[in-house]
Amino acid sequence: MALVTLRQALDQARSGGYAVGAFNVSDVLQAEAVLDAAAEAESPVILASLAGVTAHASDERFWAGLHRLIDGYPQLPIVLHLDHGPTYETCVRAMDNGFSSVMIDGSLNHDGRPATFDENVAVTAKVAAVAHPRGISVEGELGTIGGSKTDGSRAAIVLADPDQAREFVAATAVDALAVAIGTSHGAYKFDSPPDGSVLHMALIEKIAAQVPETHLVMHGSSSLPAELREQNNRHGAGLPESWGVPDAEKVRSIAMGVRKINQGMDSHLAFSGAVRESLGTDGLNVDPAPYLRAGREAMQRMVAARMRLFGSAGQAGYIGGSQS
Ligand code: 13P
Repeated sequence: MALVTLRQALDQARSGGYAVGAFNVSDVLQAEAVLDAAAEAESPVILASLAGVTAHASDERFWAGLHRLIDGYPQLPIVLHLDHGPTYETCVRAMDNGFSSVMIDGSLNHDGRPATFDENVAVTAKVAAVAHPRGISVEGELGTIGGSKTDGSRAAIVLADPDQAREFVAATAVDALAVAIGTSHGAYKFDSPPDGSVLHMALIEKIAAQVPETHLVMHGSSSLPAELREQNNRHGAGLPESWGVPDAEKVRSIAMGVRKINQGMDSHLAFSGAVRESLGTDGLNVDPAPYLRAGREAMQRMVAARMRLFGSAGQAGYIGGSQS
């Protein structure tokens, strides 16, 4: 089975009433953690890579390593997905490197300001016109999902407009749609436990009603568990208090029609916390193997727990409506 498209994985998720996690990875060790979690949980999985964000010497070297790794999990349905492709050219580069799904993030212009609706439609449709004949799925973005920087400041959020969803999907033919509902990427999200004034869950239902054939995606879905922040801070980090998306809201989003849930930061917190603890408690060790193993294992535990939360655990054998 191994590589499947986002459309195949999410069509199956809709039939089964669950969501598939998209887990950001920036090196092969993290990808191993995610795929081992999927094997442990018997879950379909989306491996998400951002272009230009890897610990390896180049994207191409990293992505070749991902393919070799994926070959070792023939029992799993795995989507290899480009996260937030900033340009048409980047999306084509990912397609040429064997991705089965690309996200074109047409929500922002080159100068980082929100693009107009028409600009977003134009670049998204251009990517889909190339991807679909090659059997590759496409995710677009409606509205602008926020992002937090390491200094704790945040980029502006532009909420998705349900009235534009139908037109966007008709004009672009995207398979999946990231909807800005108030979440943001990164380690600094909400200043207090989020309520309806900042996390606009009702938007999901409204948009789902407009585009029933398109799979909705929740970005910026990390929960930012306090115990992981504290573990990191006990061993040298200085992460300020912040709240993410509560587990219960993620479960609620699935009932409302979300089929893909993106997580990067919770995995990073788990990995880094374990690495920091390992280094911090064994001052004589300089061998990377023990601390990297601790990081990989902590990330695997985190990702497997998310797969159980999203309801995708136990679903790996089902694709295309029958058990393989
Ligand atoms: P977090 O930053 O909340 O982990 O979200 C990741 C994401 O949405 C990647 O596209």
